[in-house]
Amino acid sequence: MQDALVIFTPSGKRGRFPLGTPVLTAARQLGVDLDSVCGGRGICSKCQITPGQGAFSKHGVTVAEGALSAWNAVEQRYHDKRGLKPGRRLGCQAQVMGDVVIDVPAESQVHRQVVRKAASARTVKMDPATRLYLVEVAEPDMHEPSGDLERLATALRTQWDIPEISAGLEVLRKLQPALRAGGWQVTVAVHADHGPGPQRILDIWPGFYEGGLYGLAIDLGSTTIAAHLCDLRTGEVVMSSGVMNPQIRFGEDLMSRVSYAMMNPGGDVEMTRAVREGLDGLIAALSEEAQVSAREIFEAVIVCNPGMHHLLLGVDPVELGQAPFALATSGALTLEARELDLAAVNPAARAYLLPCIAGHVGADAAAVALSEAPETSEDLVLVIDVGTNAEILLGDRRRVLACSSPTGPAFEGAQISSGQRAAPGAIERVEIAPVTREPRFRVIGCELWSDDPGFDAAIAATGITGICGSGIIEAVAEMRMAGLVDASGLIGSADATGSWRCQPEGRTHAYLIHDGTAAGGPRITVTQGDIRAIQLAKSALYAGARLLMDEIGTDRVDRVVLAGAFGAHISPKHAMVLGMIPDAPLDKVTSAGNAAGTGARIALCSRAARAGIEATVGRIHKVETAIEPRFQEHFVNANALPHAVDPFPELERVVPLPDVSFNTGGSAGDGGRRRRRRG
Ligand code: FES
Repeated sequence: MQDALVIFTPSGKRGRFPLGTPVLTAARQLGVDLDSVCGGRGICSKCQITPGQGAFSKHGVTVAEGALSAWNAVEQRYHDKRGLKPGRRLGCQAQVMGDVVIDVPAESQVHRQVVRKAASARTVKMDPATRLYLVEVAEPDMHEPSGDLERLATALRTQWDIPEISAGLEVLRKLQPALRAGGWQVTVAVHADHGPGPQRILDIWPGFYEGGLYGLAIDLGSTTIAAHLCDLRTGEVVMSSGVMNPQIRFGEDLMSRVSYAMMNPGGDVEMTRAVREGLDGLIAALSEEAQVSAREIFEAVIVCNPGMHHLLLGVDPVELGQAPFALATSGALTLEARELDLAAVNPAARAYLLPCIAGHVGADAAAVALSEAPETSEDLVLVIDVGTNAEILLGDRRRVLACSSPTGPAFEGAQISSGQRAAPGAIERVEIAPVTREPRFRVIGCELWSDDPGFDAAIAATGITGICGSGIIEAVAEMRMAGLVDASGLIGSADATGSWRCQPEGRTHAYLIHDGTAAGGPRITVTQGDIRAIQLAKSALYAGARLLMDEIGTDRVDRVVLAGAFGAHISPKHAMVLGMIPDAPLDKVTSAGNAAGTGARIALCSRAARAGIEATVGRIHKVETAIEPRFQEHFVNANALPHAVDPFPELERVVPLPDVSFNTGGSAGDGGRRRRRRG
């Protein structure tokens, strides 16, 4: 027998190869995804395979003993040094000696799938921009003079098929000592853009580089900055952390920061410095905690809203504050990280900013689109990223629309009388009993409800400090469901509602959730002002979604995805009772978690995803809420709980709302009480 059949799993690719062919060579010729950094020198161990044994009836092959060449000295050396799992071989060392079935384990695949999230079948394949290559470079020859960089380029071309490279001064300075120290063998980190142009050498090491290869996925919000340190070999998140955006001192929301820049000459420069320092400090803290050196971080993918985008880049955001809301650029950007003053990364590290969709719909919305892929949805999906500004996407396979709507900070607990950010001690869940109208609640940091035995002891460390965004949404919705608040948002009096907890406050009423004053704690109420603030925020959200529905010509959506860290904590039922989102079957309202952060991570792991979202963003139709006359009409109609005009049949099926009115101080609440049922 001169040749043998080789079958690779899980790909199923097969072919015949002359006896003595290394498995890595067979894999390459068949296009099987088998990793290699050292190019078959037995150093990197990326090429590990598991040969099968015995009969494989599915493939019609019986693998005899000796189907692969014997374990050799190179494998033994590697095993002694690092250890190979039982049954594993190095694909570059093992040679085909007979018919064989070879499994390529996930960790040996370059384009292994990174599971995107547990709830979804969708996956992303690893295809990072930065990869490592070990190369043998020809020694210099006086008779055929050429530069070391040129010979390195030739080596990369012949050994790794990299047609063209470039390198910065930093790499050039390290090149000659590295080549000589490594005996003309070096490892290079090479960054390949997803567009045309030469690939760039980011760093170089003598011999085989055994250090880390990391990247950052960064969600740069107006309020917080979150960063995820990811292993660029596996796609895994090694460590995540977040800080407040230091720009907060220039204004809570973006518009106030834009006006700070307009009023104060040089204000934009100050804000740029603040956000860059904040970001760099976060990266430094993150890598220190993960024990990763700055030099091992080669990439950062950044998603942010248009205002943060401009302020990070050092572009005056003044044009974003006035119609027609022109962006300096809406395209994706690949920059050197040091152009953004990022020092806590490799000096040659690259930064990639996702494209913006429009003047008010930024790269964060593009990242949500990348994560949720509405353009591939069979049914009509509404994706809402709830924050100080809500980014809203609506679409399906046929088309996708986007807008942003200024919800303000009420959903984050700001502008609420007892409001606070989501932190231990904050009330996050509220239930109001339908008959007694007595509340019970849960606070962040404790699994027990307030009427469970042991609750007081369990919360002794944190206390009950206030109410966070998801807590206020549940509180107001539960008040509406219990007949304590009418459709116009008015809180009834104690007489009208039959609850002593509805207490007068000025000319209106407030509902007492918890009175901790006896123990020196706060008195936590939901006031009429709180309900008004929630009504304004939710009207803006609903009106934005409604505008997109108008544009598509529909009155209903098939499903709703709530994105954002806050979105993950909102109860779909309560959000719908308030009319934050359009009517839909409750089981079709799901949470996507931090979709913008997920989108950043996908873009970090996959060049194909970067190219894909750049193309998708170009096809997303933008709707500008600020100049759309119907926005105001939708906003006013959305003020009622859940809505003045639009029907909510799906909601009514599971949560009939009491038909109460407190406008004249009447006691229609009794009727509501009789009809009320728990949803
Ligand atoms: Fe590097 Fe086999 S390819 S050890």
